[in-house]
Amino acid sequence: MDFDRYAVIGNPIAHSKSPQIHAEFALQLRQTLEYSRLLGHLDDFAGDVQRFFADGGKGLNVTVPFKEEAFALATERSARAEVAGAVNTLLRLADGRLHGDNTDGIGLVRDLSINHAFPLGGARVLLLGAGGAARGVMMPLLEAGIAQLAVANRTATKAEALAERVNSWQLSGVRCQVTGCGLAALGGQQFDLIINATSAGLTDEVPALPAGCIAPGGWTYDLLYGEHPTAFQRWSQTQGAAQSLNGLGMLVEQAAEAFWLWRGLRPNTAPVIAQLAA
Ligand SMILES: NC(=O)c1ccc[n+]([C@@H]2O[C@H](COP(=O)([O-])OP(=O)(O)OC[C@H]3O[C@@H](n4cnc5c(N)ncnc54)[C@H](OP(=O)(O)O)[C@@H]3O)[C@@H](O)[C@H]2O)c1
Repeated sequence: MDFDRYAVIGNPIAHSKSPQIHAEFALQLRQTLEYSRLLGHLDDFAGDVQRFFADGGKGLNVTVPFKEEAFALATERSARAEVAGAVNTLLRLADGRLHGDNTDGIGLVRDLSINHAFPLGGARVLLLGAGGAARGVMMPLLEAGIAQLAVANRTATKAEALAERVNSWQLSGVRCQVTGCGLAALGGQQFDLIINATSAGLTDEVPALPAGCIAPGGWTYDLLYGEHPTAFQRWSQTQGAAQSLNGLGMLVEQAAEAFWLWRGLRPNTAPVIAQLAA
């Protein structure tokens, strides 16, 4: 039997949970499809993508370090991918063109607002980091109606440039101006939500934030996830965060949005998140 074929491409890729997540979605929605892992060639990502689709592949998820290359390869892109400057989902259209989207940010927003009922509307939000992950979540956060978005990064100039770039997009219905600064410049400010989009946690480190940044009742969210609380989650607890979440829910939600783009069906994410967290 001929199955519709999908895959996640990255390098490294063996650790990816995406095949397990998409297999659960397919089972839940009675979809017959195949979803595999592809180890991308660091020097020939374009060739890998071309071969996958030439062989009849329907859609690709793209992960580290290829999201910017996928952005360049896409022949058309969603607005949120344009703002992110990165693509994590590729879809081959009927006429053969490649559509690129970025589902990371909407995945974060859904995890926060639907799965955890965090009130994003009117929230003062601090986003740590100015790399691909930070860029990917900015537009959906702004569209969720937050009141303030401060981007802070170890290298201040990158946060300043990112804030300027996003402000220049003048997103419709978004009145909140983004500010950019270094970590030390946050002294004396407080936020209802602090999102860690840095890679500091990969080496069990925490961005060097001044004490007292979390407003009373404030939450934190680490895009990183693992079997144990991340360094940022542990730090958040010492700083009195009311809730401190990791990025597992975002991972499942970004996958669900890709599934929706490819299949036109929306999976129930709660049992899949619960299964992965167990
Ligand atoms: N849950 C999900 O679905 C999901 C999706 C996407 C990404 N992620 C996670 O998001 C994280 C960031 O990914 P990325 O692609 O944005 O990485 P990236 O492009 O390499 O950017 C890394 C960022 O982290 C900062 N950083 C690194 N080490 C630091 C330290 N010790 N202290 C303070 N800042 C530090 C860098 O600051 P400088 O500019 O100063 O170097 C930069 O802003 C990764 O952990 C990734 O796994 C999760």
